[in-house]
Amino acid sequence: MRILGVGVATVDIVEEVDAYPTENSETRSRSQRVSRGGNATNTLVTLSRLGHQCHWAGTLGGDLQGELVMRALARHRVHADHCLRYPGGATPISCVILNRENGSRTILHYRDLPEYPAEAFRLIDLSGFDWIHFEGRDPAELAGSVQHARDSGRARISLEVEKPRPGIEALFPLADLLLFSQGYAEHRGFDDPSRFLAAVRCELDAPAPALVCAWGESGASMIAPGGSFHSSPSFRPPRIIDTLGAGDVFNAAMIDRLGRFDRPDEALTFACRLAGRKCGTPGLESFELE
Ligand code: FRU
Repeated sequence: MRILGVGVATVDIVEEVDAYPTENSETRSRSQRVSRGGNATNTLVTLSRLGHQCHWAGTLGGDLQGELVMRALARHRVHADHCLRYPGGATPISCVILNRENGSRTILHYRDLPEYPAEAFRLIDLSGFDWIHFEGRDPAELAGSVQHARDSGRARISLEVEKPRPGIEALFPLADLLLFSQGYAEHRGFDDPSRFLAAVRCELDAPAPALVCAWGESGASMIAPGGSFHSSPSFRPPRIIDTLGAGDVFNAAMIDRLGRFDRPDEALTFACRLAGRKCGTPGLESFELE
């Protein structure tokens, strides 16, 4: 497929520690790596590894960190031709504490760049895209882009709903696939993905998008557009080493499989399997795809 992803790219400074540090202490890191991150580009890099032709639309500063991101995307054949560079702006940086004990990742994210403007999105020729994936960030800015994508092409649309953002629910009917996080479902008062998805489905008119919610070690649930319910267990690796970006890999796997019109239950199982494999492997670039 030809896929366009809209969202964030960052530089991640990942410090691996033996145990989560206590406040106001000094801790020696076991390792440090500097790599490209950000939900949308993590998803695109995985989709590119899965054989798709991927393009990214997002914002970067005019700084050296922006160059690092551009080079890393090029290495994975993710085209950044729709990227907007802000000469005086700073490329977003995340400081990540990766706990060796349990693979948990704690992210401190700094960002002051604008989100990708709807005005710029409207200039992109969408006619050749099969799939457009949006990271659900500033809904006010995103609304114009998602509506434009809906109006102007045959591409299927996915929306990642990771964090509660005022007004994001207005975008739900415009998508073909909604990818919810556990955190969003919990924010809405649910402690279980199935009941959460059933409640969201009730709020939507037919034809409803496919609804998916991943729930860490409990696996993931899905309601397909026809209303059938599916769930998959998680696939725990022998050792959980690095959970950074596992959700982004899960999203990529769902897009890959639903884009190929695989059965919903097969797509969900594949996504859980791939996310599990990522948790057992350091970084985003070397876990097995098949
Ligand atoms: C992981 C991630 C990191 C990035 C942060 C941004 O999902 O995309 O790569 O630093 O989240 O929120």
